[in-house]
Amino acid sequence: MSTATISMTDGQFTRLRDIIYERSGIDFQPAKKYLLESRLGRRLQELEMEDYDQYIMFITIGPYRDDEFQEMFNRITINETSFFRNEPQLSVFENHALPAVLDARADAKRIRIWSAACSSGEEPFTLAMILHRTLGVRLMDWRIEILGTDISGKALEIANSGVYSSYAVRSTPKLMLDRYFTEKNGHYELDPEIRSMVSFETMNLKDRMAARRHGQWDVIFCRNVLIYFDEKMKKQVVQTFHDQLADDGWLFIGHSESIRDLDVAFEPVDIPEGFCHRKVGCNPAGAGLKLSA
Ligand SMILES: C[S@@+](CC[C@H](N)C(=O)[O-])C[C@H]1O[C@@H](n2cnc3c(N)ncnc32)[C@H](O)[C@@H]1O
Repeated sequence: MSTATISMTDGQFTRLRDIIYERSGIDFQPAKKYLLESRLGRRLQELEMEDYDQYIMFITIGPYRDDEFQEMFNRITINETSFFRNEPQLSVFENHALPAVLDARADAKRIRIWSAACSSGEEPFTLAMILHRTLGVRLMDWRIEILGTDISGKALEIANSGVYSSYAVRSTPKLMLDRYFTEKNGHYELDPEIRSMVSFETMNLKDRMAARRHGQWDVIFCRNVLIYFDEKMKKQVVQTFHDQLADDGWLFIGHSESIRDLDVAFEPVDIPEGFCHRKVGCNPAGAGLKLSA
């Protein structure tokens, strides 16, 4: 196979960019043209296509267009993640959100957590480990539902395998690593009990109906994906979270992401360790928290 790069004209870039935006809400700025070119160039070679016009036809009107869309997303999305990513936020979850939810759901004994855009599953599994450690033997009294969703089927294949590289566990505290993983030939296999606490599903955040099918959540994590969306898509996604979050629920977005200007009824919660959001007017339960101005 030739390794020569197939170049993308500005017109082809604009058409691909529009198609990607239309389907996923991911906003590829012109400065990212090189990224599309490098990630899709190899795909064109595999398909023995000579230029991007052929590829654009293939993903818009070809009989395999839906499969190819999935393949394209697998290649163009940035799946960077790790277990115990952003420890301060996780401590807000563990020390504030979780106690409040356990308290509020003490009668129903049911907790529902959605990790949206979870990539290869490290985030929802991290939340499962925190819950497992917090609840201990009380775990059997509770119905725990943790759902991880992502647009990339390839990333979810890793999640479903439960086997990770040493890079994926690089931020995992030693105690948790020893307790919940088994090392085999340089790979880390997750404890079956933790695996059984999480289910995975392919979901495009653009698809509001898909989100609605799952009903209401007590906690939603959606970290480090809003940065890839434009304002319109960001607002639509955050509105979906608002619709699908219980009135006393908790929303966690990435620490470098902001939803302040979106005109969606969430307010940041003032916690020294990290930050999260709750619905406007929600009375913070339990931990004596203030909604910041
Ligand atoms: C950088 S990863 C973040 C993973 C994890 N939330 C974390 O913070 O570690 C971004 C993920 O967003 C997913 N993604 C991008 N656009 C999406 C969309 N429209 N719907 C669902 N997932 C999407 C990508 O496939 C990728 O796995």
